Amino acid sequence: MEKKRILSGMRPTGKLHLGHLHGALRNWIELQNQGDYECYYFVADWHALTSEYNNTEPIRANIRDMVIDWLAVGLDPAKSTLFIQSRIKEHAELFVLLSVITPLAWLERNPTYKEMRAELVEKDLATFGFLGYPVLQAADIIMYKAYGVPIGMDQLPHVELTREIARRFNFLYGEVFPIPEPLLTDVPKLLGIDGRKMSKSYENSICISDRGEELKKKVAAMFTDPQRQRKSDPGRPELCNVYTFQKLYGPAGEAEEIALSCREAGIGCTGCKQKLAEYIAAAMRPIHERRDYYASHLDEVRAIIEDGNNRATAVARLTMAEVRKAVKIE
Ligand code: TRP
Ligand code: SF4
Repeated sequence: MEKKRILSGMRPTGKLHLGHLHGALRNWIELQNQGDYECYYFVADWHALTSEYNNTEPIRANIRDMVIDWLAVGLDPAKSTLFIQSRIKEHAELFVLLSVITPLAWLERNPTYKEMRAELVEKDLATFGFLGYPVLQAADIIMYKAYGVPIGMDQLPHVELTREIARRFNFLYGEVFPIPEPLLTDVPKLLGIDGRKMSKSYENSICISDRGEELKKKVAAMFTDPQRQRKSDPGRPELCNVYTFQKLYGPAGEAEEIALSCREAGIGCTGCKQKLAEYIAAAMRPIHERRDYYASHLDEVRAIIEDGNNRATAVARLTMAEVRKAVKIE
């Protein structure tokens, strides 16, 4: 029997950070390694364009950096198909066909659309392409007849919309597409070093590529329990972002010990962060070694992407042949 397909994508915003690693990539890697699924992971560069259309120059390097990060953290091209959205032109064709059947009202009430426009006021996002962002995302997903879409909570409305669009297509033209399931997993809530959500635009991220002094400096700058001004103040680890990281990166039992000591004003924040920086550095060492390898073997990276593009194209061609037949537009 054919394996069920998994599909997910990420916009090429440049270097990935620990929020991406724990939020999405760990999940992707786990699905890949389970062996029960055929995983397709892609770089959503056309989606990046919807907000970066007036500054397209960095996108190319961002795509490369992102794929290098993916390979470094353990996405394995022998197990997963890694590809670039814009290289599979069929996505654009399916996007057109879906756009004619998608009611405007579905897009206008999309919460992420409203939020992003409010958040990114410095960008003019009053465009057709930005409104249609989830239609393109629907095309990405159903092109591969994905059974499951691993995503973070923020993307749930887009997958819900994909399900609606797929149902509508099937209703109008016949059963072509399976209805995809969102795959949400519990992810630890990692904040940036300033205590806000970790995000590239806030410049508060610890990047997957950070190491040495840079990593130490960032960890030392991390926001802790605001009530702990002096070392003699007892701390509340449950409210401390450093502690959340300790649970992820400390050796077994370490977090419990730190919590006890912190509560009775034993360990100080400076010492706690020094330990954390060491734990993160140790955990990242193999990732950095792989990162260095790929960064100095770009031909290999290019070949991996080329191979992924070819595999994705083969699926997309099959789907589009079926779609054209169903719509009766060859
Ligand atoms: N919108 C997603 C994000 O910003 C990226 C994306 C594009 C995606 N197409 C997708 C995710 C298809 C999952 C499936 O993170
Ligand atoms: Fe946070 Fe560690 Fe300071 Fe406690 S000792 S408040 S866990 S940084």
